[in-house]
Amino acid sequence: FNVPMPVNEPVKAYAPGSKEREELQRVYKELKGQQIDIPMHIGGEEVRSGNTVAIAPPHDHKHVIGHFHQGDADHVNQAINAALAAREEWANMPWQSRAAIFLKAAELLAGPFRAKMNAATMLGQSKNAYQAEIDAACELIDFFRFNVKFMTDIYAIQPESQPGIWNRMEHRPLEGFVFALTPFNFTSIAGNLPAAPALMGNVVVWKPANTQIYSANVLMELFKAAGVPDGVINLVYVDGPTAGEVIFKHRDFAGIHFTGSTGVFNNIWKTIGENLNRYRGYPRIVGETGGKDFIVAHPSANAKEVAVAISRGAFEFQGQKCSAASRAYIPSNLWEEIKDYLIADLKSFKMGDPEDFSNFINAVIDEKSFDKLKKFIDNVANDPEAEIIAGGKCDKSKGYFIEPTIIKSSDPAYVTMCEELFGPVLTVYVYDENTPFEDTLTLVDSTSPYALTGAIFSSDRYAIELATKKLIHSAGNFYINDKPTGAVVGQQPFGGARASGTNDKAGSVFNLIRWTSTRTIKETF
Ligand code: NAD
Ligand code: ALA
Repeated sequence: FNVPMPVNEPVKAYAPGSKEREELQRVYKELKGQQIDIPMHIGGEEVRSGNTVAIAPPHDHKHVIGHFHQGDADHVNQAINAALAAREEWANMPWQSRAAIFLKAAELLAGPFRAKMNAATMLGQSKNAYQAEIDAACELIDFFRFNVKFMTDIYAIQPESQPGIWNRMEHRPLEGFVFALTPFNFTSIAGNLPAAPALMGNVVVWKPANTQIYSANVLMELFKAAGVPDGVINLVYVDGPTAGEVIFKHRDFAGIHFTGSTGVFNNIWKTIGENLNRYRGYPRIVGETGGKDFIVAHPSANAKEVAVAISRGAFEFQGQKCSAASRAYIPSNLWEEIKDYLIADLKSFKMGDPEDFSNFINAVIDEKSFDKLKKFIDNVANDPEAEIIAGGKCDKSKGYFIEPTIIKSSDPAYVTMCEELFGPVLTVYVYDENTPFEDTLTLVDSTSPYALTGAIFSSDRYAIELATKKLIHSAGNFYINDKPTGAVVGQQPFGGARASGTNDKAGSVFNLIRWTSTRTIKETF
């Protein structure tokens, strides 16, 4: 299993005056000045329904940059049929050829596709250049490269044999098609969710979030350019329930690769359960879902380090990262120093259009998200238990801008300490430094149903040990003296438990193994 040893793609700096910055700015302006027509992609054909929907950047919502063709149930059926027609040839293709296609995708994205993928993510999802680079370029390149290596690790898993008997395991693709249902917030996730099952020999029907279609279209261009054969990945734009109605009743439905909110996943799981008797087998259900990610500081922690972790961990990517910190537990002895730092730091954040590379904060994804966040922020004024420490302004006149906001609550079960808001809002609970640390850890563990990421800050090793033990099920990705974001493929396999998902660790052997159905063969001589 000789495949290139994967390395993480270096993050480009886009320094002022650099060639890479000029190129990205050029492509961004070019895309911004166009109105592209975005078809669905079924069986290698571009499919136009004629029912078009306008796409505008979240930071400039009156400026139309394209239209996508909205599909219906017929298009979902066509996509399933195209996938099934491609299935046998793809499943029988030697793994080396599948690997080569996705290794080529990695190189194309590292090279000629990089600026376009980043610019599309900046425009369509309102990310600044550095966020786009980390997401749409580096993380996706890493998924492609590392998954090829992990695929061969799986194929290498073989049973013992003995003279006269040869035992072997054949790691087959699933019998049917896989449904990739992807979220708006990460272009890399939207790319990896169809790509990982396809790499393992499966055929895929892919439905992205409407608010990510602009960059999904570029991902499809990339797949084609890399040589993914017609019908292996089929991209349709339909509303979720319409897609679900067709897909979850189909006999050949073999698995779902989902990332998105917990509520949607819960409904999907139920629907699959209700339709079990229709399928050839038990479908693989892989879903990474919501989070309410925490930072807990012990009284021995370094206040500045905690403050920096909050500021980066909560507000980078507009807080629209599943891993983003959204609740913090701070001991009273550190609070004043942390508060002063945060107030000053948040004031220094520039907010605006990603076209200006000095803007650190961009817009949240859409009006629905803006209205939801604003409501939580506005409600603070009516609540004696909560106050706004920093930020709090919201403006949707041009784009959906929410100022990075810190709420302080005297109630550890305050609504914004428990619910996922998915935006640049963090709530702090300040606890008495003399409280036994174990009690604070119990609060951290019990306040939210989620268990995605979390961080402990302490210079006391006993406190770190205690937190690591007490919070054993509170986070799928646990950080010691570091912010709870920024997991790197191949270094920190990513995924959460409890209401945060099936914890199949995206970009790892654990995820890829879900896209195989192994046959054991015993041959006697
Ligand atoms: P979402 O749940 O609204 O949508 C996800 C996908 O499901 C979209 O394609 C959407 O169109 C589709 N969908 C929505 N309703 C549906 C229905 N009734 N039937 C079928 N499909 C339906 O999520 P989102 O807003 O795009 O993404 C944000 C969410 O994703 C947050 O909750 C975030 O925490 C989560 N997320 C989790 C991870 C992780 O690794 N755990 C990573 C990224 C995002
Ligand atoms: N890889 C991203 C992070 O951990 C999701 O923040």
